[in-house]
Amino acid sequence: MLRNSRYLKQAVISKYSAPAGCGSVFSIFQRSLYSTAPDFEIGSNETKINGQVIARDEWTNITPTVLSKVNRKLHLQPQNPISIIRQLIESNFQDFKTYNEFSPVVTTKQNFDDLYIPKDHPSRTKSDNYYFNKDTVLRAHTSAHQLQGLASGAEKFLISGDVYRRDEIDSSHYPVFHQIEGFFYLDNDISKLQADLKRILAKETPNIEVIDDTIIKPENPYQSCHTPEAVDLISAHLKHSINSMIRNLFADEKDLKVRWIDAYFPFTSPSWEVEIWYKGEWLEVLGSGVVNQKIMNQAGLENKIGWAFGMGLERLAMVLFGIPDIRLFWSEDRRFIDQFTPGKINKFVPFSKYPPCIKDISFWLPEDEWHENDFCELVRGVAGDIVETVELIDDFRHPKTSQRSLCYRINYRSMDRNVTNDEINEIQEKVRSVVQDEFNVKLR
Ligand code: DAH
Repeated sequence: MLRNSRYLKQAVISKYSAPAGCGSVFSIFQRSLYSTAPDFEIGSNETKINGQVIARDEWTNITPTVLSKVNRKLHLQPQNPISIIRQLIESNFQDFKTYNEFSPVVTTKQNFDDLYIPKDHPSRTKSDNYYFNKDTVLRAHTSAHQLQGLASGAEKFLISGDVYRRDEIDSSHYPVFHQIEGFFYLDNDISKLQADLKRILAKETPNIEVIDDTIIKPENPYQSCHTPEAVDLISAHLKHSINSMIRNLFADEKDLKVRWIDAYFPFTSPSWEVEIWYKGEWLEVLGSGVVNQKIMNQAGLENKIGWAFGMGLERLAMVLFGIPDIRLFWSEDRRFIDQFTPGKINKFVPFSKYPPCIKDISFWLPEDEWHENDFCELVRGVAGDIVETVELIDDFRHPKTSQRSLCYRINYRSMDRNVTNDEINEIQEKVRSVVQDEFNVKLR
């Protein structure tokens, strides 16, 4: 749920090097329904977002579709399942300070450098992120605010917010989703660590089956500045806190199992991922670990040791509320939002779905590199939330010319109204012409 976590070492290196042309200039002026000031404006030299003016450069690939989501803040809309889950998580960490209003517009230093994500790491690419310019992005994870949290002086805190990643299009992927970050630290002193662990262990033992075969090994090591004893104590604290939270979130589930597996993040060591056995499958729910001491030191906390975790909210909300399509969280249809009550998890009752409209698009690829995320982004840019899925249905290489041809099936469906074939034909025509211009493909 770190959603194909791109901060993992094993992250698949993008097959295609340079993202295809992102050069188009949208001149768009978007006014929110509720405010008099424009939320954002994309001009040819700069982007304005909530009063901030950011110069464009060759890195700019931000789109109006994604910028129009910045002020929705689903995690703060009391009836939205995303907010309900956030609050349930917060209620498990009662003495933690909460930060839910950090701006999603962050520097690349915050999103990557401060977290020791290497300069050449695949998670930094233009085809995976929304860049305002080479130094400014829409945050790709709430970890971007760890140092801000530390600077506030709080020793325990949670940060939630909307995060942005360019991605494929299907029922569980959307370019904006939500995460919650947890952070906790203590004096790096064995007796204090022991006392705190004892204090939380005395509170409750979560009634949950925990599978944890992880051991400290060279691939997932102690940091050399830490003693094994201190790391074992802070890790036990982390694992107990997470296991209890999961038990409480899935309160009605009898056969709940939690599995801890080794992972790698540049900002923690040792690191783990947590999976939950729920209704017959393992769900990947969070990433966590012992905080990279360099981050603590950067905040002037040399004598402290900490743990952190980061968790996506959409997938949890989808399974707990039985919500079949990630776009529903964004729906303004009362038949959706009126089903939910703050503080309560109840099953979503589907209302009649509007019929889909399916269109294929095929083209010969040019010599240049092809990047599917860029194609999906462009379709989303033209058609907006009306695209339900984009699926590659044919990939063919001509035996003689060795030219490659792709065919994508685009499924259009609105969550809140009926769409006409004429309307979709018009959108499809626009998609065809923009794809042709932007990617230099030959339409078939
Ligand atoms: N930021 C990571 C992601 O989005 C998740 C994560 C992993 C957050 C480990 C953490 C952590 O705080 O310690 O994939």
